[in-house]
Amino acid sequence: MTDVQPRRLLRLDIPASACKGSPDDLKDPDMSEQTATPPRKIIIDTDPGQDDAVAILLALASPEDIDLLGITCVAGNVPLALTQTNARRVCEVAGRSDVAVHAGCAAPLQRPLVTAEHVHGKTGLDGPDLWEPTMPLSPVDGVTFIIDTLRREPAGTVTLCPLGPLTNIAAAFEQAPDIIERVQEVVLMGGAYFEVGNITPAAEFNIYVDPEAAQAVLGAGIPVTMMPLDVTHKALATRPRIDAIRALNSRVGTFTAEMLDFFERFDVEKYGSDGGPLHDPCVIAYLIRPDLFSGRHINVMVETGSDLTLGMTVADWWGVTDRAANALFIGDVDSDGLFDLITKRLGRL
Ligand code: BDR
Ligand code: CA
Repeated sequence: MTDVQPRRLLRLDIPASACKGSPDDLKDPDMSEQTATPPRKIIIDTDPGQDDAVAILLALASPEDIDLLGITCVAGNVPLALTQTNARRVCEVAGRSDVAVHAGCAAPLQRPLVTAEHVHGKTGLDGPDLWEPTMPLSPVDGVTFIIDTLRREPAGTVTLCPLGPLTNIAAAFEQAPDIIERVQEVVLMGGAYFEVGNITPAAEFNIYVDPEAAQAVLGAGIPVTMMPLDVTHKALATRPRIDAIRALNSRVGTFTAEMLDFFERFDVEKYGSDGGPLHDPCVIAYLIRPDLFSGRHINVMVETGSDLTLGMTVADWWGVTDRAANALFIGDVDSDGLFDLITKRLGRL
């Protein structure tokens, strides 16, 4: 079994002579290539969360790569009333009150909700001064929005990006099985193998909160790319990286730096690491720059029975079973490239 470099979106090199303006205009590597494919249509399914917030901002800052069809919120880091409020706050910071924000499921499919205020603070978005958002919450619930969007858009053109527990996605698949084959790909943050658990010794938070939902998505027979803790723990928001974002000297830059100032304290104290891991932005960054990441196509199943290891992602990294691969399990990232991308893109907002 070999490590794979995820596929790169097809891009065309445009010679400087073919463009109007100065060749200097082409110096930023993010801008130096012309996207040959249209921006990828995505739905972000999220439980903000400071790292979710950065992921949303990165998507909003990247219209040439990403066509954000809508945001669906789920209960996770904090209850649904707070995650949907936080998602609207993030859109407002970016000046994007036009984005449709939907509230989805308030609790996991079969279990009581577990939350993570100990990581994200009481609001889920502790750090900056928060305000009551004025942009409206969509009257369409999140699960209905996922179903309707997948039925409306051409088959194979919508990517689902879950950044929290997989409840909304699994509920949509359960209510409307016809949409499953219409999904282009699921690119999610969740799971762990070498890093094992962050909410229990065995399980990563997003998978642990709704393990039945996670198994339903992994077993749906559609392309899945996973950003487990194995990679996100390499995406550390160190002090110099946070300061570079603060130095953008914009509303988004200050808001993000204040969120990350708060967010880092938990992991620094727990792991003795250099900063907090930016878990969820890895999902959006992967859509923009898959070349920054590498992983393996392997079989991944979720433990749903055992109390001891509930929510563990049993990842056949070494290929010791004959279970068919069902996910691209990412293991590594060029973290400097990742933070360079995030900082440059947030600088546009
Ligand atoms: C995941 O759990 C949440 O706390 C973060 O937002 C991320 O999605 C990391 O385990
Ligand atoms: Ca999250």
